[in-house]
Amino acid sequence: MQEKKSIHGAWASRWIFILAATGSAVGLGNIWKFPYITGENGGGAFVLVYLFCILLVGVPIMMAEVLIGRRARQSPINAMKEVAIEANHSGNWSLVGWMGVLAGFMIFSFYSVVAGWVLYYIAGMGVGDFASIDGDAAGAKFNSLLADPQTLVIWHTVFVAMVMLVIAGGVKKGLENAVKFLMPALFVLLLVMLGYSMQTEGFSAGWNFLFHFDPSELSWDAVLVALGHAFFTLSLGMGAIMAYGSYMPKKSSIGGSVVTIALMDTLVALIAGLVIFPIVFANGMDPGAGPGLMFVTLPVAFGQMPGGQIFGFVFFLLVGIAAWTSAISLIEPAAAWLVEKFGWHRVPACIALGLLVWSLGIAALGSFNFMSDFTIFGFNTFDFLDFMTANVMLPLGGLFIAIFAGWFITRKMAEDELAISSPLLFNAWYIALRFVSPVAVAIIFILNLVEKLS
Ligand code: PFF
Ligand code: NA
Repeated sequence: MQEKKSIHGAWASRWIFILAATGSAVGLGNIWKFPYITGENGGGAFVLVYLFCILLVGVPIMMAEVLIGRRARQSPINAMKEVAIEANHSGNWSLVGWMGVLAGFMIFSFYSVVAGWVLYYIAGMGVGDFASIDGDAAGAKFNSLLADPQTLVIWHTVFVAMVMLVIAGGVKKGLENAVKFLMPALFVLLLVMLGYSMQTEGFSAGWNFLFHFDPSELSWDAVLVALGHAFFTLSLGMGAIMAYGSYMPKKSSIGGSVVTIALMDTLVALIAGLVIFPIVFANGMDPGAGPGLMFVTLPVAFGQMPGGQIFGFVFFLLVGIAAWTSAISLIEPAAAWLVEKFGWHRVPACIALGLLVWSLGIAALGSFNFMSDFTIFGFNTFDFLDFMTANVMLPLGGLFIAIFAGWFITRKMAEDELAISSPLLFNAWYIALRFVSPVAVAIIFILNLVEKLS
């Protein structure tokens, strides 16, 4: 069979794929969300469940997404359809791709708001607004930002524009070059921050909080959050990795690449936790403070260290870049589909998509001010979008992808695409995909329902 080519282009090498996918994975989920949900869910036991979810559910499903994408070399909606048809099944599997596109829009709308906070902090650090700030003042500053829709709209708009600009230009060149330098730089800065937090008196308390296992802290609710976050942090269940996989060179190992990506993502999350919690404990703050955690703890640390405003500026800059390379992958599946389906140029596709997600973002940002009274199922818009996507849509999308790749496409197709030489490793993947991950997702869903209804 002649090898298929994507009309959107291809990554220059396997390493570029790994970097791009790591760029998608490593984002606000690691530095902002992981620490605050760990704080809300009691620490160590939650972290352990999360690590199991990454290994047993996340890695096998990520491999499935890449293999489907690379097999079809099209946007997730069309890839699901084509691969299903190749295996003599209904083209309606494209619905999984559609749900992913919807999830991507929904995630983007609150992601962009948080990225907007990051941009505001970059600017603030740049002009020295946070110099020698203490915990109370940092909290007050963050709250006054949330209360100010105008400022929020400005930064949200800037972020939407940044993302659409890259997608409009085609992900390949712009993104390839960006991630090559930015991801390593982010790593180095995180390590610098780790060095700082290791010197605070809160380090051992922070370490214990992250790694001390106390099962009494666990609830089914916390397990669901851990599972959902495994999907969110690895960009799984909505087609982002499938889209990136469709640009992957043929002769490169999917398994090895995926393990590398998952490892880097996990490392960044754990280091972020080891940076943030010691600062929390050293300053008598509350680890369960919620979404504001990073935005009140880090300025305190930067306020105290020599040269802190410069480090703070660079650090938030890198968080912003991490958010940027992730957000691109939230919209790429939809953009690629528009190009494939209607033959649109990327520019009009991005303008249309940009307007859509910009408007959704306004609703998310209003949760903190002009729409604070508006709730859906008891959530404000921001929390609803976060909950629905991470805890419902992504695990559900992942469940369908696992069932599809495990039970519907032929074993031969999977073997072909993965090209794993060790039968043992292939079988380990296959069992994890066919049994472990669907059963885990199903059980966690069901027990959560039971817990909520009782
Ligand atoms: N993985 C990203 C993060 O951890 O910040 C968020 C994300 C990006 C989720 C892309 C889903 C996605 F498709
Ligand atoms: Na992540």
